[in-house]
Amino acid sequence: MCGIIGYAGYRDAIPEIIEGLKRLEYRGYDSAGVAVITDVGLWIEKREGRLSRLEECLNGRPQACIGVGHTRWATHGVPNDVNAHPHVDCQEEFAVVHNGIIENFGHLRRWLVQKGHVFRSQTDTEVLCHLIEDCYQGDLVEAVRKAIPYLEGSYAMAVISPKEPDKIVAIRKDSPLMVGLGEQEFFLASDIPAVLSRTNRFYVLEDGEMAIVTPTEVRLSSVDGNEVHKDVFTANWDPVQAEKNGHPHFMLKEIYEQPRALRDTMRGRIADGRIDFSDVQLDLFLQDVRKIFIVGCGTAYHAGMVGRHVIEKLARVPVEVDIASEFRYREVLWPENSILIVISQSGETADTLAVLREAKRRGIKVLAVTNVVGSSVAREADTVLYTWAGPEIAVASTKAYSTQVLLMYMIALFMAGQRETLPQEVITEMVKELTSLPDKIQQVLECSAEVEAIAGKYHRASSAFFLGRGLDYMIVLEGALKLKEISYIHAEAYAAGELKHGTLALIEEGVPVISLVTQDDLQDKMVSNIKEVKARKGTIIGITKEGMTKTIEECDEVITIPDTDQLFTPLLSVIPLQLLAYHIAVARGCDVDKPRNLAKSVTVE
Ligand code: G6P
Repeated sequence: MCGIIGYAGYRDAIPEIIEGLKRLEYRGYDSAGVAVITDVGLWIEKREGRLSRLEECLNGRPQACIGVGHTRWATHGVPNDVNAHPHVDCQEEFAVVHNGIIENFGHLRRWLVQKGHVFRSQTDTEVLCHLIEDCYQGDLVEAVRKAIPYLEGSYAMAVISPKEPDKIVAIRKDSPLMVGLGEQEFFLASDIPAVLSRTNRFYVLEDGEMAIVTPTEVRLSSVDGNEVHKDVFTANWDPVQAEKNGHPHFMLKEIYEQPRALRDTMRGRIADGRIDFSDVQLDLFLQDVRKIFIVGCGTAYHAGMVGRHVIEKLARVPVEVDIASEFRYREVLWPENSILIVISQSGETADTLAVLREAKRRGIKVLAVTNVVGSSVAREADTVLYTWAGPEIAVASTKAYSTQVLLMYMIALFMAGQRETLPQEVITEMVKELTSLPDKIQQVLECSAEVEAIAGKYHRASSAFFLGRGLDYMIVLEGALKLKEISYIHAEAYAAGELKHGTLALIEEGVPVISLVTQDDLQDKMVSNIKEVKARKGTIIGITKEGMTKTIEECDEVITIPDTDQLFTPLLSVIPLQLLAYHIAVARGCDVDKPRNLAKSVTVE
């Protein structure tokens, strides 16, 4: 995702900014740029491609003590030199770098064009420059304050102007931004590791907070101008921890990023209680669809299983879901007006790509759900919906999975609206609940210490079983996969109704049986299955909803999740399952981020 760096101090600004941008490279980017203030105005250089391309253009650069830089990951407008940040206003007097998405940029752009502003790029960010230009009446801080109420969406942004050459004005909403506090120098950065080589003392900005940064001081205020005082955060991290933003492993960092990843994936795609996919014209794509095939591998396949359940339930369209490596060798019967949805975090998985190519050869339209812009799947599909999870480094997928599941819900609700299979009020209510899930996930994440304690008791087990019914079955499949991938414990998930058809023979004293019970209508059946396990002296680790007392009473250990629409529980219940796998693997001393024999991206058959 995009990254911001700012510098105000006694050193040469451009090398400082480039150093910081290099440390943000891991977030992924397609272009980069830098702007500094000189005696004769703004000096800006920006280039599509790697940072090394930008560096090649810096010969003859000016010395400056204030500047901003940016790495961009394209959202609005293709990756090219013009769309790279920093952007400027008509008179090139305000340079802006921005992370996030200005949702109402189309409306703002039309309004500003009517007022005579001339745009150069296709980006949403450029409206910020013209808006600030429009609001400027001799005070940059005031101009930014005046511009803010016009904006819908998310932003971390930094603005510089030769009109006030001694400062950077920065502000954030729903996108991270820190101020690094050095000796006689200050930094802005999207994350702490980016400038940790210079300082470990930070102000971490909260939503709606502004920082006015000069080479000699930092002032913090709210958007309405009230002074803000906050504690300095000291990051006592070693370089390895720093890369993981303070977490011991990428997997844990990525588990904790899920609320942000979900918000980013919804951003700009919800309007007036409806799902809005107009940017990719999904209405046309899905218009006459009579059957949907969903295909993926591993975790992506599990997300597809949730997709089948919710699309059939909400949009009443038949869906078939399969593992890509099986699907490609089956004699698939494609009814007329079938489409294929491929799900792939990396967009490079060989089997998934093979299915996509075969479908296209047969004239089937393909929708890709992927996390990587420009990946093979993204390039070759007819239409792409991106999961904005950000780069996922740990081999075991977590935030990519939950954003894939989220897009399944969004597709289902979108189709339900299009086909009128649900009243609009119901859709609006469900969309509203969907937007509350990031906060609820945040709440669930607080169970990490409890889960760690449970992991401490059971990490020596040689086998573990996972049980669930309905949607819960699809989630325990993912929970068992996580556990086996990273802890090497033999873990199997079963549809609880199948217990009597074989699995029960494996239950003996002390075997952990992780039982997921979140579906109200299936609770009684699950409780019976739990009793069957207990009668064979198995140990029940229950994950259930607050208030499901019948289940809670039967469990040896229990983790509860907050209430939500029954269809949406997977996004909450998967969190304790991810954490359980993680803490058990740590307790067993496993290499959590790089499990043996596995690869992040499987590009061979
Ligand atoms: C590998 C990874 C999994 C991933 C699967 C599919 O097995 O370890 O985390 O779910 O590939 O990858 P994709 O990139 O297509 O989602």
